[in-house]
Amino acid sequence: MYRMGIDIGGTNIRVGLFNDDGALVEKEAILTNAHEGVDAAIERLKALIVKVMENHQWKQVKGIGVGSPGPLDPWKGEIQSPPNLPGWDCIPLRQLLQEEYQLPVFLHNDANAAALGEYIYTYNREVKNLVYITVSTGIGGGVIADGRLMLGHTGSAAEIGHMIIRPNGVLCGCGNRGCLEAQASGTGIAKRAKELLAESDQPSLLREAEQVSSKDVLVAAQNGDALAVELLADVQTDLAVGIANIVHAYNPQKVIFGGGVMQAGDAFLKPVLEKAGKIIFPSMAEGLEFSVTRLGGDLGLYGAAALVDYFQET
Ligand code: BGC
Ligand code: NA
Ligand code: ZN
Repeated sequence: MYRMGIDIGGTNIRVGLFNDDGALVEKEAILTNAHEGVDAAIERLKALIVKVMENHQWKQVKGIGVGSPGPLDPWKGEIQSPPNLPGWDCIPLRQLLQEEYQLPVFLHNDANAAALGEYIYTYNREVKNLVYITVSTGIGGGVIADGRLMLGHTGSAAEIGHMIIRPNGVLCGCGNRGCLEAQASGTGIAKRAKELLAESDQPSLLREAEQVSSKDVLVAAQNGDALAVELLADVQTDLAVGIANIVHAYNPQKVIFGGGVMQAGDAFLKPVLEKAGKIIFPSMAEGLEFSVTRLGGDLGLYGAAALVDYFQET
């Protein structure tokens, strides 16, 4: 049998098909194209699904899992206007897909699904306490506690990107200030860099960039640019505080990172972990392992497919 995973993100929508051995046998992606509208995006998603199914039969598919940025309601199966998914307001995606394909559909938060993907596909359900943290456009988290995915009362447990790290800090897409996501996501880093450049006339390599991105900041820092180095040191502290808070809350055995910023390389990640190591309780740091996901950019697909395995135990 197969299970289908659909990964909805601000930049790409991906579809993958997994066999019983957990192998990704088909995958396709399209751009999300926010300006085009949600109906058009859903039509293109359906065309993508047709492509993925070209050499397979629907009766071999046992279910469809979908991961999407929140807020969303997994019980209703509805995406509810995520700041990082403009235009997706109250979209009953589960019902739409269920009616179209006549299969069970599971819709959950992208990072919660990714945590499940690590739990099931990377660790074969043997690591009973793990946390997944993604730092990309947004910051998201998922928690496996005592062998179960934490869902919470409204299915939104582990919205760790919106933990407030600095009251009165950077304005977040959610409307609050100083959220971890506003302080330290890819978009947060770019925004903070632009603000710093506008506030002072400190010389910086970044003044040459037309549209400063988080990648520009990482590269400038590697080249010794003082403004970029100082900004990243701040970002690294914010991430370290966030990670320590999460470790203290959930006491995981493993913390797994994903997303472009955490996968940018050791030069960025090492100081984050060193700073976190200084504030995490020694008793909880013992045996605690940090790693970057081995599933790379496909983790979103693994996570979405894992929803089918987890919620539809046969
Ligand atoms: C959203 C989360 C999501 C994360 C990563 C955040 O802005 O609030 O629901 O998991 O971005 O996509
Ligand atoms: Na989450
Ligand atoms: Zn926020």
